[in-house]
Amino acid sequence: MRGVLITGTDTGVGKTLVSTALVLGYGRRGERVAGLKPVVSGAVGGLWEDVESLRLASNPPRTVEECALYGFRDPVAPHWAAHEEGRTIDVEAVARFVREQAKSVDRIVVEGAGGFLVPLNARSGFADLAQSLRLPVLLVVGLRLGAINHARLTCEAIAARGLVLQGWVGSALGSEVAAGTIEGLKDYLPMPCLGVVPYHTPVDPAFALQHLSLP
Ligand SMILES: Nc1ncnc2c1ncn2[C@@H]1O[C@H](COP(=O)(O)OP(=O)(O)OP(=O)(O)O)[C@@H](O)[C@H]1O
Ligand SMILES: [Mg+2]
Repeated sequence: MRGVLITGTDTGVGKTLVSTALVLGYGRRGERVAGLKPVVSGAVGGLWEDVESLRLASNPPRTVEECALYGFRDPVAPHWAAHEEGRTIDVEAVARFVREQAKSVDRIVVEGAGGFLVPLNARSGFADLAQSLRLPVLLVVGLRLGAINHARLTCEAIAARGLVLQGWVGSALGSEVAAGTIEGLKDYLPMPCLGVVPYHTPVDPAFALQHLSLP
């Protein structure tokens, strides 16, 4: 199984933007690529924005069912969203889903929910899914004050599970990035920088792709 797992320093830091940009980039190279968001919460008008972004950028485009296994209505942490709907997320089922989807393409890009240690049920979380899949991990860093600490904490957690840190990508969450943030990340993170996406509205994966090197 070839691909990458996308995690972030937090929720709302640019994971979908960067994941979709990577999917677009691989597709433009002529690869068959699937953008997956196996666990998603927060439907708007019956649709999940992350799923729409990733499935439509995929080559060839995928259905909702081929992109996500667990979709929850409420925009809350997935383990809680599941609990509220009387459901339980089966992490091994998620891993099987991802492996199954990977069979139909050359490469997968899997977006996590929230950050690396987000729980998925009472016992396990996204980190366990990552360990089961054993894909290299790309960290999206939301470029705001405090990002260096969040990024370093996340790197420690990923490395402690024996996973490969493939690289990090910064995404600017405002027009100003605090002085020293990008330099600090370059100096203190153990893996290479694969790009920094400037602040750009409306968010545009094709624009983001211009600022990324594909891992
Ligand atoms: N480079 C950028 N330029 C402008 N806005 C950005 C940028 N990166 C992130 N954002 C803003 O942050 C929001 C969250 O981005 P995105 O949906 O990609 O985050 P996420 O990490 O996937 O969130 P979630 O945890 O909900 O999946 C976007 O809607 C956008 O408003
Ligand atoms: Mg997202």
